[in-house]
Amino acid sequence: MGSQLTSVSVFAPATVANVGSAFDVLGLALEAPGDTATIRRTPEPGIRIADISGDGGRLPRDTEKNTAGVSVAALLTHLKKSDFHSYAPVGMDISLEKGLPIGSGLGSSSASTVAAVVAANELLGSPLSRQELLPFAMEGERIACGAAHADNVAPCLLGGFVLIRSYKPLDIITLPSPRDIWLAIISPALELCTSDARRVLKRSVTLESAVSQWGNVAALVAGIYKNDITLMGRALEDTIIEPERAALIPGYQAAKDAALATGAAGCSISGSGPSLFALCHSEQRAHDANKAMEQAFSAAGISSKQYVSRVNQTGARVMERE
Ligand code: HSE
Repeated sequence: MGSQLTSVSVFAPATVANVGSAFDVLGLALEAPGDTATIRRTPEPGIRIADISGDGGRLPRDTEKNTAGVSVAALLTHLKKSDFHSYAPVGMDISLEKGLPIGSGLGSSSASTVAAVVAANELLGSPLSRQELLPFAMEGERIACGAAHADNVAPCLLGGFVLIRSYKPLDIITLPSPRDIWLAIISPALELCTSDARRVLKRSVTLESAVSQWGNVAALVAGIYKNDITLMGRALEDTIIEPERAALIPGYQAAKDAALATGAAGCSISGSGPSLFALCHSEQRAHDANKAMEQAFSAAGISSKQYVSRVNQTGARVMERE
């Protein structure tokens, strides 16, 4: 094979999918928290989930049911078909360390999947680019929630803000990251399965909602290019998805109102929820927003975890190679 490496560890970050109005077509990567995957080359061919920590025993250990296992298998099948370095059977043991809460809306399954796919590619001498790894990481999303959306895996792989102009064919556009933006992230102690949070969505929208939504998505992208955090905050307005999903998150509106009252530029659901994110002009504002949201959830009897992060510019990163 293309490298002599025997083991590679990769960290992959949490992501905020949708970024308010841009359902399924925009996502951003955070610096932390995240998941780590270590892949060891083994003499026996095949892919195994050797170990998972931090998941409370909840994730499948069966390779064919585990998002990381499925994605690495899809990658190896592709490399075999493309006769990569006159392909010889390869064995891999995957170990996952979960730093992300499951079902939180922070791209937990994507982080494990991306970390594993990047580690497997690195172990084989990096035959594919980061962009080329995307379809394999998306296979993990199909297993996780029944829809191979890319707005978590793409920023997780590539870093920054990533726009998905089209799924068929896949057309991914990386956007510049506003320099001074800070994110307040709150993860209430609730769990929402993405497939359930997709099932509640209406299948059709009115022309009026569509007009409002594409105005906001376009303004969000304009705000990113103009480095205008206030405009980005305004453009989080989502008339299609947020009203449906807010009903699944007890205390959502009070937490959002509390974040906005501290001066956050905007606030919405992270991915399919239940986490919320607020776009802020400074680190202090992000802490203030988190505190206000924490108090609002607490008043509703819900505990939470908070994170403050800038936008991660590089995506998943290799931590160790042996
Ligand atoms: N765009 C996806 C959704 C992200 O909102 O269902 C899931 O994390």
